[in-house]
Amino acid sequence: MCGIIGYIGNKDSTSILIEGLKKLEYRGYDSAGICVKTKEGLKVFKKRGRIFELEKLDELKELKGMIGIAHTRWATHGEPNENNAHPHFDCSKNIAIVHNGIIENYHALKNLLEKEGHQLSSQTDSEIFAHLVEKFYEQNLEKAVIKTLKLVEGSYGLVVMHKKEEKLIVARKGSSLIIGVGEGEMFVASDSAALLEHTKKVVHLQDEEIATITKDKYIIKNIDGEFVNKKIEEIKWTVEQMEKKGFKHFMLKEIFEQPQSITDTIRGRIKDRKIKITVDFRVDSIKRIIITACGTSWHSALIGKYFIEELTQIPVEVDYASEFRYRNPVIGKDDLVIVISQSGETADTLAALRGAKEKQAKTLGIINVVGSTISREVDSGIYLHAGPEIGVASTKAFTSQVVALLIFALYIRQKKGQELDQELLRELEELPQKVKEVLKTDKEVQKIAKEFTAVKNFLYLGRGINFPVALEGALKLKEISYIHAEGYPAAEIKHGPIALIDEQMPVLFVATKNNLSAKIISNMQEVKARKGKIIALVNEDNKEIKELADYLIKVPQIINELSPVINVIPLQLLSYYIADIKGIDMDKPRNLAKSVTVE
Ligand code: G6P
Repeated sequence: MCGIIGYIGNKDSTSILIEGLKKLEYRGYDSAGICVKTKEGLKVFKKRGRIFELEKLDELKELKGMIGIAHTRWATHGEPNENNAHPHFDCSKNIAIVHNGIIENYHALKNLLEKEGHQLSSQTDSEIFAHLVEKFYEQNLEKAVIKTLKLVEGSYGLVVMHKKEEKLIVARKGSSLIIGVGEGEMFVASDSAALLEHTKKVVHLQDEEIATITKDKYIIKNIDGEFVNKKIEEIKWTVEQMEKKGFKHFMLKEIFEQPQSITDTIRGRIKDRKIKITVDFRVDSIKRIIITACGTSWHSALIGKYFIEELTQIPVEVDYASEFRYRNPVIGKDDLVIVISQSGETADTLAALRGAKEKQAKTLGIINVVGSTISREVDSGIYLHAGPEIGVASTKAFTSQVVALLIFALYIRQKKGQELDQELLRELEELPQKVKEVLKTDKEVQKIAKEFTAVKNFLYLGRGINFPVALEGALKLKEISYIHAEGYPAAEIKHGPIALIDEQMPVLFVATKNNLSAKIISNMQEVKARKGKIIALVNEDNKEIKELADYLIKVPQIINELSPVINVIPLQLLSYYIADIKGIDMDKPRNLAKSVTVE
């Protein structure tokens, strides 16, 4: 949700900022802008659309200076256009700011500023920051920013610069900002993706911390002006991991990385037929588990519910984080709240976590991004180690989340002194190999995709542990191909969706063998009787399904608990190819963002 980069050093900042923005583009991409401190003062250039549109501006060739900030936007207040793009100036054009987040008391502050004669030139809430800093500025930018922040309600990742000051002031509340520490130069960015090629040394700002950054040092204070000591951490991800490596899109690369990402999630966590993870609280006394998340992570939570209940006999509830945070849930100290988030920054998930902590629940995070806000605030966590996920539509993080949840379920069982199913453990260890096999369906799925690029609707049906797979398949398709798609438990179609079925309606059945196979075949017959086009995902030669299906996708056999990991992969590929044939850049689908740091 909006990407921010800032630079201060001895190098020409324009190219550093533009290259940095490109790395952050997946966070938002409706408009972009840059501000550089030049000999003639602060110069701002902005453009609607992607970074390459901004980069094409001739003026950028002449833009020279060693301090600068830049921003790629995902609009909240005010439509995406040049005027609303960041950076924003104050009235005097001495101050420029970039902001990620939302100012909740925007109207009150706007009225106040307008009464004092400030002229706001955009429809954004963010511009308020520039004018407030102007109002409070008395030869000390840091003090002016602190005064400003005390008035603002809402969330911010904020970077401010002043024409007369050789520094950047950086502040954060609810929207991540990381300082990159170089040799005689400093960076600031929304996430480490933009820093990696310059430095691996980073400092994570926490909420209500303000940093003053010059080219040689950074000083961090809290909002009351007290100094805060922070240690430098090292980014583990490599530049190579952040590149496409010959794949046409990040999404395809990430789909094909799944044998490795799953290996990395499992690594070191199964030893001598036992689960080896560290959790900082007792799990054998947990009475109830609530899992909360958003988007694709919510789907992995639904899958987790199936095997956690089965393996531990602990009741599990799954809730959207956006609902959970506002519904005053009944939670006690024997409850465990699990939050799942690839980015570790999703605003609703973070708020749900904080709500659970207030109610004294134990909390566990299943997170991919090391050092992210959620990962720092949970009582205990399991990192996915899936590597950076750049494609906006989540793929490899999803399969790693399912695996991490299964490992955690097995861990609880072990702690309760119950036997672990050795076949399940063996299959878990062999999972990366089976994922390699299922990726061989690639060509077949690509052929099927060609048949469905013109459809308007799609149904995905599954049952049991594969019902959430149907939901995820449908979500992937609508996110990146803009085809309307619904996921349903197969038996439910007769309570509504069956009315939609005719010869135009493709229906994908996740029909791999389990105790519900016979039932899913009946559901298939119901669809066939109404001339729906059936795509069946199977893992055995089933004569009946063969006769009913128009298209078959065959995947390897695997134990039921792990079948979602295998079954989702052809669904990821199907949406990828449909979107690709339609010419959509599925790494940056319209209106979406990778990291949703606003409500
Ligand atoms: C956005 C992304 C989704 C993701 C969701 C939750 O909507 O586009 O791919 O599943 O956020 O993100 P998280 O980082 O919390 O898993």
